[in-house]
Amino acid sequence: MTAATSWTWEYDGYEPADERLRESLCTLGNGYFATRGAFPECVADEVHYPGTYAAGCYNRLTSDVAGHSVENEDMVNLPNWLALRFRRPGGRWLTPDTATVLDHRQVLHLDSGMMERVTRYALAEGKALFVRQQRFVGMADPHLAVLRTEFTAEGFAGALDVEAALDGGVTNSGVARYRDLDGHHLTHVHTGSSAPDTVWLRCRTRTSDIRIGMAARLTADVPVTERLEVSRAVQRIHLDLTPGRTATVDKTVALHTSHDPAISDPLDAAVDRVDAASGFDDLLKAHRTAWDQLWRRAEIDVPGAAGRILRLHLFHVLQTLSPHTADLDVGVPARGLHGEAYRGHVFWDELFVLPYLNLHFPEVSRALLGYRHRRLDQARAAARATGRRGALYPWQSGSDGREETQELHLNPRSGRWLPDHSRLQHHVGSAIAYNVWRYCEATGDAEFLHTKGAEMLLQIARYWADSAVYDEGLGRYRIQGVVGPDEYHDAYPDAKLPGLDDNAYTNVTAAWVLTRTLEVLRALPEPRRRELLERTGLDGGEREHWDEVSRTLHVPFHGGVISQFEGYGDLAELDWDGYRKRYGDIRRLDRILEAEGDTVNRYQASKQADVLMLGYLFSPAELQEIFSRLGHRLDQDTWRRTVDYYLRRTSHGSTLSGLVHGWVLARARRAEAWTFCQEALRGDIADLQGGTTGEGIHLGAMAGTLDLVQRGLTGLATSGGALCLDPVPLPELSSYGFAIHYLGHWGIQLRLEHGRLEITVPPSDLDPIDVRLPDRSVSVQPGEMRRLMLPG
Ligand code: BGC
Repeated sequence: MTAATSWTWEYDGYEPADERLRESLCTLGNGYFATRGAFPECVADEVHYPGTYAAGCYNRLTSDVAGHSVENEDMVNLPNWLALRFRRPGGRWLTPDTATVLDHRQVLHLDSGMMERVTRYALAEGKALFVRQQRFVGMADPHLAVLRTEFTAEGFAGALDVEAALDGGVTNSGVARYRDLDGHHLTHVHTGSSAPDTVWLRCRTRTSDIRIGMAARLTADVPVTERLEVSRAVQRIHLDLTPGRTATVDKTVALHTSHDPAISDPLDAAVDRVDAASGFDDLLKAHRTAWDQLWRRAEIDVPGAAGRILRLHLFHVLQTLSPHTADLDVGVPARGLHGEAYRGHVFWDELFVLPYLNLHFPEVSRALLGYRHRRLDQARAAARATGRRGALYPWQSGSDGREETQELHLNPRSGRWLPDHSRLQHHVGSAIAYNVWRYCEATGDAEFLHTKGAEMLLQIARYWADSAVYDEGLGRYRIQGVVGPDEYHDAYPDAKLPGLDDNAYTNVTAAWVLTRTLEVLRALPEPRRRELLERTGLDGGEREHWDEVSRTLHVPFHGGVISQFEGYGDLAELDWDGYRKRYGDIRRLDRILEAEGDTVNRYQASKQADVLMLGYLFSPAELQEIFSRLGHRLDQDTWRRTVDYYLRRTSHGSTLSGLVHGWVLARARRAEAWTFCQEALRGDIADLQGGTTGEGIHLGAMAGTLDLVQRGLTGLATSGGALCLDPVPLPELSSYGFAIHYLGHWGIQLRLEHGRLEITVPPSDLDPIDVRLPDRSVSVQPGEMRRLMLPG
């Protein structure tokens, strides 16, 4: 990567080993679909992977692995619309692997959502071909993508053959670990043409039967011929190049699927759309305007290298979850629409994404919560299947909300397929409840809170209350047989059954969900409360029981610290230095130990923040209050000791871990905070999790870093109808500004600098904003700017 402006992301030279990573980081998308930043002249192989994914487009297949038949639902790699190759007549197609690359440069323009690449290919006898391409995936029209290619002959005059295609012969093969699994998701591939310059391809997914229509228009100053193959719709042109004169070829592509609203047939819709599409310049203009508007709503201004990375993170968050997402029935895919890792599934990662979106794109947050609400019945069925009432949301969710977590996972280090118990992470339900609550706090959306929000809260709370078992000896309720956020621990050593007891994170968040739900029920307008109680059969007795459970869930402690789960403190200590010395990178300690014939379950060694997640979700005051309700005094010393304890026992095998540690340590005013913030900032750009970014970005960590500035450092909370701020100093990130959308005010500007807060509320006829600092409260009128010194 080379130095660049704060609005570009640039790569110089062709580096096959980096290509997968660049493709992920140069992915272009619009919340409806995305395409990896691959070379159009290259097909999928060991180096290149030109994937295209539409949000929510999944397909389920059964494969045989390790003697088991396993079913997996995957986000489908759609036909490759990008394909465009070129050669001198009679010569080989030019690719960076088959021809000599004299220069190569790739620039991602974050401001306009456009990728530009320039490559000079060496030809025989000192000649060269200069290729410049610009591409974008429409932010104005989410069904369109455009690729402009300019060819310039250097040192020769002569012909160039250009071939563009829609290629339906693709499979899901972007993740090496999944290659034993069936990746053939597309069937009934047909091609055709609808105009002299337009071809189309249609197909459907094998089991989910989603129909896909694509159409491509090729525009050049020369005639276009077509060849329709079984799975490829090919268009060809023959250019006569002369030195100094650039020949331009535009490929405009439309994509529709049968999930789209307001269409009758995806192919007809794609053909019509491409037919009606204007030329490159007009499309780009509209696309730029759409991006300008997004940047205005999500403005963040942080100086230096951190600011540049944050902008890239924001760019990818917006490409995965844009206002176009608000019209779709989709969740937050953990790895963006950028690759096939985790199969496009939806985990608890929305916990790191929605709090950021709430203050910029509340309509997107609401839609993402809608995805969960539509799957409430499925979650209730899952709870029933475990013999409990309420809703048990799946650890991994896809199309219909059933549990999509794989049964087996491969340890690439040992080559063994192992049982996967991560589905026992029932805490995902609390993440959904937390997001409902924070969304409603930030937006004041009482309508949502009183309807869908209350319905989800009620059923999630009910599941927790029904899961809690009273222990006479302890005189407390316990939740047993679960897995916490640290997925390294999925069982007690030598236990026959998976699952752990009294995971502190699970129990404390469950207690919080129960308390908040009771609060919401009390505050519901009477007619609505009656409706809800009638529909769910929730009576006074059950609510009393919830109240009791919310006060008496067991939170284990040992040696003066909160235990991750009952018995964590009895596990063996790991020889951290020894393992670091032997293996260097020990982030994936679970795989290392399993390959050694051992198991991480025997050790006090965590993959990621688990107990410390509590300090990420709740302010110190909130946390003290929750603990106090549970009958514990959580003083600063206990929290500090707990932070120290887990800091020494965490391998950070998830990108979420650095983020949470950075956040928690900054609040604890600890010097190490910046190291972890940097780990979170560099997670994807430097591919810190060892090759995983090439399989898709880590969306939770990316959005989390934005929220680290927005809520972590500022202590911004939107409770009680006021904007509460309690900034913590982080010397390395001490001046920043951003704009938020809050209680109907568009573009409230906040800037923190030199121990001073500047807040500007845009003119409107709305109510003034109540701003609460630790030492005072002020009211800021629309149209007013206030400067406030922060307490030292
Ligand atoms: C983490 C989970 C996360 C998942 C998807 C895993 O490595 O441990 O917490 O939800 O990745 O991002």
